[in-house]
Amino acid sequence: MSAPTAPKTFHVKSFGCQMNVYDGERMAELLGAQGMTSVGKGEDADLVVLNTCHIRERATEKVYSDIGRLRRDDGSAPIIAVAGCVAQAEGDEIMARAPSVKVVVGPQSYHHLPEMVARAAAGGRATETDMPAEAKFAALPKRRKSGPSAFLTVQEGCDKFCTYCVVPYTRGAEISRPFNDLVEEAKLLVAGGAREITLLGQNVNAWGSEDEKGRKVGLDGLIRTLADDPDLQRIRYTTSHPNDMTDGLIAAHGEIDKLMPFLHLPVQAGSDRVLKAMNRSHTVESYLKLLDRVREARPDIAISGDFIVGFPGETNSEFEETLHVIDAVGYAQAFSFKYSPRPGTPAATMPDHVSPEEMDERLQRLQAGLQRNSLAFNQSSVGRRCSVMVERKGRQPGQWLGKSPWLQSVHFIGDFAIGDLVDVELIEAGPNSLSGRVL
Ligand code: SAH
Ligand code: SF4
Ligand code: F3S
Repeated sequence: MSAPTAPKTFHVKSFGCQMNVYDGERMAELLGAQGMTSVGKGEDADLVVLNTCHIRERATEKVYSDIGRLRRDDGSAPIIAVAGCVAQAEGDEIMARAPSVKVVVGPQSYHHLPEMVARAAAGGRATETDMPAEAKFAALPKRRKSGPSAFLTVQEGCDKFCTYCVVPYTRGAEISRPFNDLVEEAKLLVAGGAREITLLGQNVNAWGSEDEKGRKVGLDGLIRTLADDPDLQRIRYTTSHPNDMTDGLIAAHGEIDKLMPFLHLPVQAGSDRVLKAMNRSHTVESYLKLLDRVREARPDIAISGDFIVGFPGETNSEFEETLHVIDAVGYAQAFSFKYSPRPGTPAATMPDHVSPEEMDERLQRLQAGLQRNSLAFNQSSVGRRCSVMVERKGRQPGQWLGKSPWLQSVHFIGDFAIGDLVDVELIEAGPNSLSGRVL
C-alpha cells in the first residue's frame, strides 16, 4: 500500500438539519483555506467528511453504509472523517468498528479539522468530541462568498430536554453567539452575495446577547439591526420553541418588513397528556393562544410545525387530538415523523410503545390532514402579489423557481438570474407549489 499523502481534494456531505448544513459550509471554508479544493462527489475526493445527523433511527447504520460505499474498486478509500451528531454520540464506537474512519469530530470541535486531517494523512487517527462553547467560531476563517440565500447560526444547543430528543446530548447546552460577531458575519455574507439570511438555532428564539452599548438584546433586536443593512432584503429564523416566543419577537413580525411572514413553531402533539410526557412545557391551549397573538401582529403569517406520532403511550384518541390542532391552526407546511426511540433518552424506556403498524396509520392520517392544510393555505394565496426570490431554473424552457415571502415554492416564466427578486401575482395553487405571473 502506498503511504498516505496530504489530501488535495475534499467533499463534505451533510445530513439532518439546517444547522448541519451551516456547519458543513463552515468546514468546507476551513478546508478551502488550507488550500484544498472541493469536489462534487465523494468518490473523487481525497478526503470525505460525513456530517451526520442522529435525530431518528438508522442514522448510525446509514453512516456505516456510507462508509462502505466510499471504498473504491481498487480497494483504496479516501480519508474518511465522521462529523456531526452521530460523531458526538457514537464516535468511540465508530472508531472501533470502522478502521477506514480516520477522524471523528463533534459539532463543537470541527475548527480542529485541519490538524486532525493532517494527523490522518500521516497515518494516524484523531477523535475530538469536546464541547467548548463558542471557541469554534473564533477559529474559523471569515465568510467570503455566499449564495443569495445564506444560513447564519446564531444559537446552538438545547436545554429543553424533550424526553424523545437527542439534541441536548449531541449539541450540548444552549449558547448564544455574541451580537457583534453576528452583525459582522451577516455583513460579510451580504458583501459576499447574500440577499436573504436565515438565522439558525435549535432554539433560535432563545438567542440573547448584549449589543455594542452593553444593552440586553433578544432575537428581535438582532433582526432589527440586521434589517438596517440596505443590501439585505429578507430575514428568516428557525427553529423556535413556543416557550421562548417573546412579546418583542411577536411584535417584530408586525413591524419589520424584511422579516418574512413565516414562523416554524413545532407543537409535536395535540394532547396535553402526551405533551407533558414529552416534557414540552406548553399546552395545546397555550400554543394556540400564542399563535393568535402572532397572527394579531401579522395576519398573513404562514405557520409551520413539526409533529411526532406514536410517542410511547399515545392512544388513538390522543392522536386524534393532533388532527384537531392542525385544523385549528391551518399549517402552511409541516414535517411529521414516527416516534423513534433514541438511546439514552427518557422516552426510550417508557412503557407502551406504539406498534409500527399503528404508527404508519397515524402518520398517513396526519399527513393527509397536513396536505389539506397546505393546499388550503396555498389556495388562499391565489391573487396575492408578492416578491419571489429566484432559486433555480425550472424544468421547462424559460421557467424559474423561487420562494414567496411565505416560503412557498413558486414557478414562473421569464428572463431572470438566481437571486433576483421578482414581483409576481400568484395565479394557481397546488399543495406543494404555486404558479406566478410576472408583473
Ligand atoms: N429544536 C427544534 C427541533 C429539533 S429536531 C424544536 O424543538 O422544535 C426536529 C424535529 O425532529 C423535532 O421537532 C421533532 O418533531 C423531531 N424529532 C426529534 N426527536 C425525534 C424522535 N426521537 N423521533 C421522532 N421525531 C423526532
Ligand atoms: Fe429537541 Fe426539544 Fe430541544 Fe427541540 S426543544 S432540540 S425537540 S430537546
Ligand atoms: Fe440531526 Fe444534530 Fe441537527 S441530530 S437534526 S444534525 S442537531
